[in-house]
Amino acid sequence: MKNIVILISGRGSNMEALIAARDAGNLPVNIAAVISNRPDAKGLETAAKAGIVTHYIDHKGFAGREAFDAALAECIDMFSPDLVVLAGFMRILTEGFVRHYEGRLLNIHPSLLPSFPGLHTHQRALEEGVRIHGCTVHFVTAELDHGPVVIQAAIPVLDGDTEESLAARILRQEHKVYPQAVRWFAEDKLSLVDGKVRLAADLRDDTVLIAPELR
Ligand code: GRF
Repeated sequence: MKNIVILISGRGSNMEALIAARDAGNLPVNIAAVISNRPDAKGLETAAKAGIVTHYIDHKGFAGREAFDAALAECIDMFSPDLVVLAGFMRILTEGFVRHYEGRLLNIHPSLLPSFPGLHTHQRALEEGVRIHGCTVHFVTAELDHGPVVIQAAIPVLDGDTEESLAARILRQEHKVYPQAVRWFAEDKLSLVDGKVRLAADLRDDTVLIAPELR
């Protein structure tokens, strides 16, 4: 069974979705550790309650990104992960860190990339007046929120939607697609080859999740 390490910064609801999928027998992985850059991340408590080893490495104690990323990588590598899962990990990572985990570093981002990389995605989607919004699971590359796309979920932007309502509807989709992508990786059906996503042939139709309202 593959080892995964999950990185969080806060609430950790995506992490919870991964734990729940594992507990339900839908995610054949060993969650070796949950690591946060914030000592007060709520998700650390949740992980500890689930019996998972937790660590924090407070980024504020480091002079710069390189030093923090080196300490983080050292902590992660104690668990020999096959895959590192960024689940609401709110740090920009250095190129060296990203290269070290090439092909085994996944992120979830609350927009349909390449639209709206970075922060405040729901507010920006509303400002732009897009009709479709969503989330993306992707392999991480050195360019922020730009790596090869694994799976996307789409929802409609409805009249009267607010940042909060969009965030809530998209989060529900995040909790479906992230365990799905990690499961594919765990089952050796997903990999990164020459910078491109390689998926088992029978999965290609499953890489888009369309909310019922759009069908
Ligand atoms: C999610 O919307 C994720 O896409 C983004 O940050 C949020 C984290 O939420 N990167 P949680 O900590 O998983 O609840």
